[in-house]
Amino acid sequence: MKKTIQELQKMAKEGNKITMLTAYDYPTAYLLEKADIDTILVGDSLGMVVLGYDSTVPVTMDEMVHHTKAVRRGAPDTFVIADLPYLSYSTPQEALFNSGRLIKEGRADAVKLEGGQYFAPIIEYLTKNGIPVVAHIGLTPQTSTQLGGFKVQGKDLESASKIYHDALAVEKAGAIMVVLEAIPAPLAARITAELIIPTIGIGAGEKCDGQVLVVHDLLGLYEKFVPKFVKQYENLAQNIQSAVKQYCQEVKDSEFPTPQHSFQMEEAVLNSIFTKD
Ligand code: KIV
Repeated sequence: MKKTIQELQKMAKEGNKITMLTAYDYPTAYLLEKADIDTILVGDSLGMVVLGYDSTVPVTMDEMVHHTKAVRRGAPDTFVIADLPYLSYSTPQEALFNSGRLIKEGRADAVKLEGGQYFAPIIEYLTKNGIPVVAHIGLTPQTSTQLGGFKVQGKDLESASKIYHDALAVEKAGAIMVVLEAIPAPLAARITAELIIPTIGIGAGEKCDGQVLVVHDLLGLYEKFVPKFVKQYENLAQNIQSAVKQYCQEVKDSEFPTPQHSFQMEEAVLNSIFTKD
């Protein structure tokens, strides 16, 4: 059964951790739902781990809608959050139009946008228009250039204080949850204790109300860059390569396909076609 926003928020209040992973396609979403994940994020990390861009910046609305649709088909009974890509929510009207696409066409349950105090009016506008919004603060990959790269945020007074005020602002604006990315664990713990809405951490320590990871990182499928906060539970990149190598070798050695993988027919039928008059 799909969890409602209220149920997710109740879980956090009662100390039950919320699980979230990204998915971008039908089979992964299907498997995550079968594994009883609480929520799925169609992250714009899609751009890097699936589409091969060098950042999330080039990701388009059409790409997000396309992949959100696939995820929804794979996980009809899971709470799905879809990312608003870079520069798709600069004005309230643009944010509403694009969020509407993710919800009406992609069938997402909520949208996520990167930003704190500055984006609070957009979060409020979307919320008033019936769009559930997840905020994302701390390290915000879409604007990582401004932040000095993919670096931990909130280590000094100014930056920690900004993140704290961002958290307060997005909650006040109506966000249903907030993702805290790459911030010191003690800061995330204090923010979590102060907020009513659930905090979902990624590189933000164990005290958050829930955790999210990019599924390709967890499965060891994306080898270009592995952040410190990732735990690789599998090494699928290696498994895939060795399976492909074995397949290639067996084809070259005529070991695959075997009769077990082939179809047979009556010899008489075959002979009657190939018999010359
Ligand atoms: O795009 C994404 O996958 C994300 C997560 C890293 C939280 O925003």
